[in-house]
Amino acid sequence: MVSEDMTQMEAPRIDSGRIAEVSHGLDRSEVERREKVFSVSGLEVSYHGNVALDGVDLAVHKNTVTAFIGPSGCGKSTFIRCFNRMNDLVPGAKVSGTVLYHGEDLYARDVDAVEIRRRIGMVFQKPNPFPKSIYDNIAFGPRVLGMKGSMDERVENALRQAALWDEVKDRLKEGALGLSGGQQQRLCIARALAVNPDVILMDEPASALDPISTTRIEDLMHELKRDYTIVIVTHNMQQAARVADMTAFFSVLVDEDGGRRHGILVEYDSTRKIFTTPSDKRTEDYVTGRFG
Ligand SMILES: Nc1ncnc2c1ncn2[C@@H]1O[C@H](COP(=O)(O)OP(=O)(O)OP(=O)(O)O)[C@@H](O)[C@H]1O
Ligand SMILES: [Mg+2]
Repeated sequence: MVSEDMTQMEAPRIDSGRIAEVSHGLDRSEVERREKVFSVSGLEVSYHGNVALDGVDLAVHKNTVTAFIGPSGCGKSTFIRCFNRMNDLVPGAKVSGTVLYHGEDLYARDVDAVEIRRRIGMVFQKPNPFPKSIYDNIAFGPRVLGMKGSMDERVENALRQAALWDEVKDRLKEGALGLSGGQQQRLCIARALAVNPDVILMDEPASALDPISTTRIEDLMHELKRDYTIVIVTHNMQQAARVADMTAFFSVLVDEDGGRRHGILVEYDSTRKIFTTPSDKRTEDYVTGRFG
């Protein structure tokens, strides 16, 4: 397996001409015609009173892939955790501003955060299968939720959707921890899909994987966006260019006295625009690798 650092070392510097070629993303007008799944305005997140991310406004549209990019510490993980109220579970985290999910306030008092996390699944950087069989990993969520219907079918469908079925169909009763890293990550995607979610959030899902597994995950995202809305954090700009329709570039703002730092959303637009003709100099510097 290739380590995260190696993956980043191997990534060549951005050549925006080439990115434009490989980007299959939708036009912004096409994206904006689609229903808004999330609508974020004036979002601020702080940890123990220190602002980590401030003033974010952005919408995520149905059946699209939206990527968040930006330097380490700019608040990408903080932001993606706002979409399924994962920050509720982080000690000291406070979210303010508005996040609408299908037009409803995601942070309203009567919203059931557990139900939200079923509808808005999450896949993390490090695959985290349960120490159970492949089958039981997928069946876990549907069982907890008491979902009706054939469990065998549900498991098979989820594994097929995650492009893992052919590799595991003869070993469903074996432990999930015996799978390769790339297979484990697809298993985690299958596990998220098994509870019929609406949205899948992925925080650097491929950064710990080798190039072949990474390609499989990227291909999968193209497939999955037909049925789901996908939000992905990635450090790999080529990956954003390959998979995302829309890309948001975040950066770190340092106070004039050089003291406090917090993340801001610099620019949000179609992936093609972000990687070829960004409006903001800071975006351009970052995507062309001139970022200091
Ligand atoms: N649980 C936490 N407690 C306190 N501070 C946190 C916590 N999580 C994140 N932060 C702080 O919030 C800021 C944004 O962090 P975050 O993890 O969201 O950045 P990131 O863009 O995902 O970075 P990376 O690319 O390294 O994953 C950082 O200054 C970080 O130290
Ligand atoms: Mg992060």
